[in-house]
Amino acid sequence: MATETDPTTDEVSIESTRSEREPPGPDGLPVIGNTFALASDVFGFYERLAHEYEGDVAHYRVAGDTGYLLTHPDHVEQVLVTDAPRFVKGEMQQRQIGSAFGEGMLLAENDDWRDQRTTAQPAFYRERIETYAPVAVSHAEAMAADWNDGETIEIHDAMTELTLSVLAWSLFGIDVRGRQSAVRAAATATRDRFDTSRLGAYLPEWIPTPVNRQYKHSLSSLREFIEELIDERRAADELGEDLLSLLVAATDTGGMDDDTLRDNMATFLFAGHETTALALTYTWFLLGHHPDVQERLHAELDEVLGDAPPTAADLPELDYTEQVVKEAMRLYPPVWTTFREPIEDIEIGGYTIPEGTVVSLPQWIIHRDERWYDAPLEFRPERWVDGDDRPEYAYYPFGGGPRHCIGMRFARMEAQLVVATLAREFAVESITDASLDLTASANTLPAEPVKLRLSRR
Ligand code: HEM
Repeated sequence: MATETDPTTDEVSIESTRSEREPPGPDGLPVIGNTFALASDVFGFYERLAHEYEGDVAHYRVAGDTGYLLTHPDHVEQVLVTDAPRFVKGEMQQRQIGSAFGEGMLLAENDDWRDQRTTAQPAFYRERIETYAPVAVSHAEAMAADWNDGETIEIHDAMTELTLSVLAWSLFGIDVRGRQSAVRAAATATRDRFDTSRLGAYLPEWIPTPVNRQYKHSLSSLREFIEELIDERRAADELGEDLLSLLVAATDTGGMDDDTLRDNMATFLFAGHETTALALTYTWFLLGHHPDVQERLHAELDEVLGDAPPTAADLPELDYTEQVVKEAMRLYPPVWTTFREPIEDIEIGGYTIPEGTVVSLPQWIIHRDERWYDAPLEFRPERWVDGDDRPEYAYYPFGGGPRHCIGMRFARMEAQLVVATLAREFAVESITDASLDLTASANTLPAEPVKLRLSRR
């Protein structure tokens, strides 16, 4: 029988009061809210919000808009999986990065998105993706051939060069190594456009700064270049092995017109090369600070590979290599947060999140939360050995639900093969301090050069 002290009744009444309340958060200044705090140090701002306000839901105000930071894995699962149809990518992301991705699937919504994803998905099946393994290995081997014993290198540039060349080959069948091309020019101009260490990153695109002009020019050259390639593939008697050829064949039967196909090829290039380069950069940086981990990695590579370069068939045996890359993406997730906008008021964690606001699901915070990870700031690949009982969305470097990263398999395979290929030949020592400065650009970028000293093994 229910009494006045019935805990169930109490809980319901607390919940209903709470859901009508605004989640807690800093006041900020009138009009601009928390804009300065957020712009000057996003990671620090998020960390303060997550730690100072209980309940894993906090609000903030940026330039007049209200945002909500959700820091529990259950919230991530609710937004990305269970309640996914009640959210869109939304207006803010469209405004910030829409011009680079055009009509491509990263920002497409509803049926548009579904048709594109269904058409493109078979090109990313395991059997297809594994045909690109030799490309990753041979490009990494060529890079190793240029490295010298005792040399100091900047690894972020090196990995960006490598992942761009692997992707250009896999997507378009072209070799951009050491050459200027529309692909390289667009990659560079996009990086400059979103470089938050430059004032230009905060100016709208229509202001004709040199960086903006270069960005627009290179985007339209890239689009023309891809259109020519599409025409070439359509005219050819036989299709090639690159992803574009597969998609040209797939789109013959509908699902994507040529403009959307073109925008998706650009999307794969932009979404795929810097992220994978960052996963590799942080892996090397961490290895260079942890000789014990590196020793175990070398032992595994020697035992499994012997004198041969790795292949996709070796990957199931390279468990420790996989754990090293996985742990690096936990500590330094290349994508530091995932944004969504609810299309109706929605209750999350006992609070009502209003329609049309922005919710932020920060990999950066949840991946480093001591509720899910012992000693969360330590680099411990072996934490992934045993089955774990942490919530599924305590780790989501590739997002989750229907819109999880379509390139996940490609990226993980490439990263593991590149680590295996290069670590077979070289050991690294980090010169850059362990307290690496970061910038929250479109991705989690190092704010300083990441230097390594190489020694030939
Ligand atoms: C380590 C490397 C990578 C990381 C960390 C990464 C991360 C992510 C994340 C977090 C999302 C979800 C975004 C959201 O829900 O808002 C995403 C989506 C996406 N990624 Fe990746 N990505 C990587 C590599 C790649 C590669 C190699 C490609 C293409 C070849 C790619 C293409 C895409 C596309 C097209 C989407 C949008 C999917 C959709 O909305 O259906 N990514 N990625």
